[in-house]
Amino acid sequence: MRGKIKRGWKTARALWKNRRILVDVVQSHVFFLENRDVSVWGGISETDERGVREAVGRAAEFDGPIVEIGALFGWTTQLIASLKRPEKELIAVDNFCWNPFFLPPDDHRVITRRTLHYCLKHCNVRIFDGTAREFYGSYRGPTPSMVFIDADHSYEATRSDITWACDHEVPVIAGHDYHSGLHRAVVRAVDEQFRNDFELFGSVWIANGRGERARTALAA
Ligand SMILES: C[S@@+](CC[C@H](N)C(=O)[O-])C[C@H]1O[C@@H](n2cnc3c(N)ncnc32)[C@H](O)[C@@H]1O
Repeated sequence: MRGKIKRGWKTARALWKNRRILVDVVQSHVFFLENRDVSVWGGISETDERGVREAVGRAAEFDGPIVEIGALFGWTTQLIASLKRPEKELIAVDNFCWNPFFLPPDDHRVITRRTLHYCLKHCNVRIFDGTAREFYGSYRGPTPSMVFIDADHSYEATRSDITWACDHEVPVIAGHDYHSGLHRAVVRAVDEQFRNDFELFGSVWIANGRGERARTALAA
């Protein structure tokens, strides 16, 4: 009995001490429970998966790596890795600043690396551990065949992701969370850049970065 009380007291103290994190975790939990059709714990839904398949299929027609901006735990990374040609490189960019469980960045990093272990070893996948901006500033490789944008969902960041891909004339530019209810900033950035010249699969959007409209909008 005394042991039980002691354990209960210890738990109560831990709950109180970590209350801020716990509130964030609960809010995140509720958000993802309520939006299962759009996002599964920060990853893509089954409907969106069709869009990723389509984008990777289109990218297969071009040389150059696939770049994923925002890998989280490597779920879409693994999906893309399973759909691409084995020799095509996949670069997963993430600075581990956010995850739906509020894990500290170093734990997040370890989990993602372990999840991606097979892909990193055998599927020509590598992680760029840093911000999208750092990646853009340091990348010297061939023009990517595809960029999949799913990191910082602010307007400025999404716009800068799209702009980098358009500047480099990436043929397949795609991304997640085109959803006016949940991610208006993403919708705005995509609409502004591509007008109606993109396709939607659930909340996955796919545009042609070499399209005339993209070039015109960029020049304006
Ligand atoms: C929505 S999650 C990505 C989900 C993943 N594509 C999937 O569906 O499995 C967003 C990820 O982007 C990362 N991120 C956010 N801002 C970033 C930035 N500026 N540079 C690099 N990664 C960023 C976060 O750490 C997080 O892992």
